[in-house]
Amino acid sequence: MGCTSSKMSVSVPQKPAQKTLLVGGGSPKKAAELCMDPDDSFTSEALAKNQLRPARLRPMPMLTGPMPKSSIGLAGLQWPMFVGPTSHVIKAPKDWCDRGILLPHEAFRWLHGEIRKILTYFDPLVPGQDWQTSLFFSWLERYYILAVRHHHDSEERIYNPAIIGKGGSLPAKITSDHKDIIARLNSCSKFRSRIENGEEIAVVKFKNHLTQLIDMIEDHLAEEESAYPEALRSSGMTEADEELVVEKIIQDLGLDGNKVLLPPIIYAMHMWAGREAAEAMVNTQLPPQIKFALTHFWIRDFQVNSLGVISSLQGMVPFQGSPQCTTPCIVCAVQ
Ligand SMILES: [Fe+2]
Ligand SMILES: [Fe+2]
Repeated sequence: MGCTSSKMSVSVPQKPAQKTLLVGGGSPKKAAELCMDPDDSFTSEALAKNQLRPARLRPMPMLTGPMPKSSIGLAGLQWPMFVGPTSHVIKAPKDWCDRGILLPHEAFRWLHGEIRKILTYFDPLVPGQDWQTSLFFSWLERYYILAVRHHHDSEERIYNPAIIGKGGSLPAKITSDHKDIIARLNSCSKFRSRIENGEEIAVVKFKNHLTQLIDMIEDHLAEEESAYPEALRSSGMTEADEELVVEKIIQDLGLDGNKVLLPPIIYAMHMWAGREAAEAMVNTQLPPQIKFALTHFWIRDFQVNSLGVISSLQGMVPFQGSPQCTTPCIVCAVQ
């Protein structure tokens, strides 16, 4: 997802303008058959036919006063506490230009913190710890690498051209960074077979590669957190214009892209924006079909296959479930 608009600038939700937003990608029919819940007003049948309802995008409530304790009922997940933004650039977001970029970036910074912790425990050549290799690489490839690829791809193909089209100016380094980041992400998987074959030097090189890549991505995120708000403010793009661009990005991500990106975004939002903002985003900003899939399947998938895997790798305890979908279903949780 690109630099998503967060619409947290008013205290009272306003009547939204109705906008048609269709999310393509994937083949949800099988998923709908497997996951149908007859009690939901948005049905799996619509998902199966890819006949998606118009999205209603509403402004999010302004965040004022002390943040409430974080714990909401989505799939019974214990949400993290509010701590404020981790960005060194946008320490106190003041408008939609600041808030939009933090949505994906705060999620990535949270993931990076977890990956750094995992790397301190990652020693799969120690007898009895060989399970770490498959688990870590499967999770990295399915969730982290895919999410980062989607994000920068959306920026390159959709977000940046839209800003430039409105007269904004962006540093050329953003594009060159994206190419470099994607190439380095693609290089991660080459270490997998070498480590599985017992190459000690491959473990060391992999840890160095991933650590340096994360450092580089965080430098890139920081540069964007300066460049994008500045470009948005100096361009002719309005908040409403940006909403349309974000809608296009959501369409382009398809169901699987949203499945990979949305849960960590919502999770991290509890930490940098608070529970109210996260709940408001889920309840008022997402297209009905995306909210349905998120709350019924993707959060559970995230709970088991991201939080569970992270916990396992940080606790040196073999994961009890599978890090990969065991069925062709693209929306169901994986148990
Ligand atoms: Fe980027
Ligand atoms: Fe970005």
